[in-house]
Amino acid sequence: MKETLLKKFEELYGSADGVSVYFAPGRVNMIGEHTDYNGGHVFPCALTIGTFAAVKKRTDRKLRFFSMNLDRLGVIESSLDDLTPSDAAGWTNYPKGVMWAFAERGMKPDCGLDIVLNGNIPNGSGLSSSASLEVLTGFYLRDLYGFDVTNVDLALIGQYSENNFNGMNCGIMDQFASAMGKKDNAIFLDTADLSYQYAPLVLDGAKIIVTNSNVKHSLVNSGYNTRRKESEQALADLQKVVPIKTLGDLTEEEFEANKSAIGDAVCAKRAKHAVYENRRTIRAVEALKNNDLKAFGELMNASHVSLRDDYEVSCDEIDVLVEEARKVEGVIGSRITGGGFGGCTVSIVKDEAVEAFKEKVGAAYSERVGKNADFYVVEIGDGPCKL
Ligand code: GLA
Repeated sequence: MKETLLKKFEELYGSADGVSVYFAPGRVNMIGEHTDYNGGHVFPCALTIGTFAAVKKRTDRKLRFFSMNLDRLGVIESSLDDLTPSDAAGWTNYPKGVMWAFAERGMKPDCGLDIVLNGNIPNGSGLSSSASLEVLTGFYLRDLYGFDVTNVDLALIGQYSENNFNGMNCGIMDQFASAMGKKDNAIFLDTADLSYQYAPLVLDGAKIIVTNSNVKHSLVNSGYNTRRKESEQALADLQKVVPIKTLGDLTEEEFEANKSAIGDAVCAKRAKHAVYENRRTIRAVEALKNNDLKAFGELMNASHVSLRDDYEVSCDEIDVLVEEARKVEGVIGSRITGGGFGGCTVSIVKDEAVEAFKEKVGAAYSERVGKNADFYVVEIGDGPCKL
């Protein structure tokens, strides 16, 4: 990958002397979905796939971007003096947003950059290509300009830019998973205070399989922001009767005892998911610590049902994938992962069932949906690095 990037850099910008190459990973979330902006827990891990960049400082204030994944767009030019979002800027709104967010914190790059990007996360798959791009940008800005920020700051800056520059009100999970990833570990993160623990996720006799529905999660911005508003409305209603800061503060019992305070039936369903999913996540991590993979899988299955019926962020194609996965012997658990409205499922599958899983789920998906699914046996990788 490094050579490919350097070659392209040279081809586009003249010389690759003094160019640095960086990587930041995508992520898959095992459980704890749509809990991160509700003060709950999440359990994601960084992947070994992600986004790469070859970057070099310029002497003026110009920014030149090129993505090998979108090469038809050619080199997109901008400037450090034009860090405002625009439709015309397309994907460069992500790195520009991060540059803007650094500047908002008083960290201003003193010269422009030439950049070539290449990523191996399937576009629109819900495996956080945008968060990996944000963390990558923060990582190379820190390296090149010597900004004093931690990896947790990189996650927060990435989220801030996505919220305020790109108009997606995402939580902290994706950027945190990318910035703080650790090989063979998932991250048990409490989004209420950003405390976290690594939990080894080397499964004895089983694999993690990500299945891409190849339905682009296009509704994600609008549908996502609506879910967030509905959850906030439910919280505001509940706060009239219980002293809580977030939905993550409630146990299932407390929720059931107070749910009548929520005025709107849809908002009540959203809150139910947020509360129950948070508790499922805590239990799932406990189950993993006790080597109880079966219990972990059952919680994953319950998570899917809740995301489908109460949070309503699944779609027919994803439901087919989950349904077919569960028919295969040796499947321990299967659920939608990420923001939803398409994208991927994550499944835990016994080693001996992996081939049957791909064959059976793949064939049934083609037959029922008329599309091909892609399967990735996932490896859990580290956070960002300089290559
Ligand atoms: C998207 C967001 C995350 C999180 C998930 C749902 O990936 O970026 O912050 O809310 O959806 O769990």
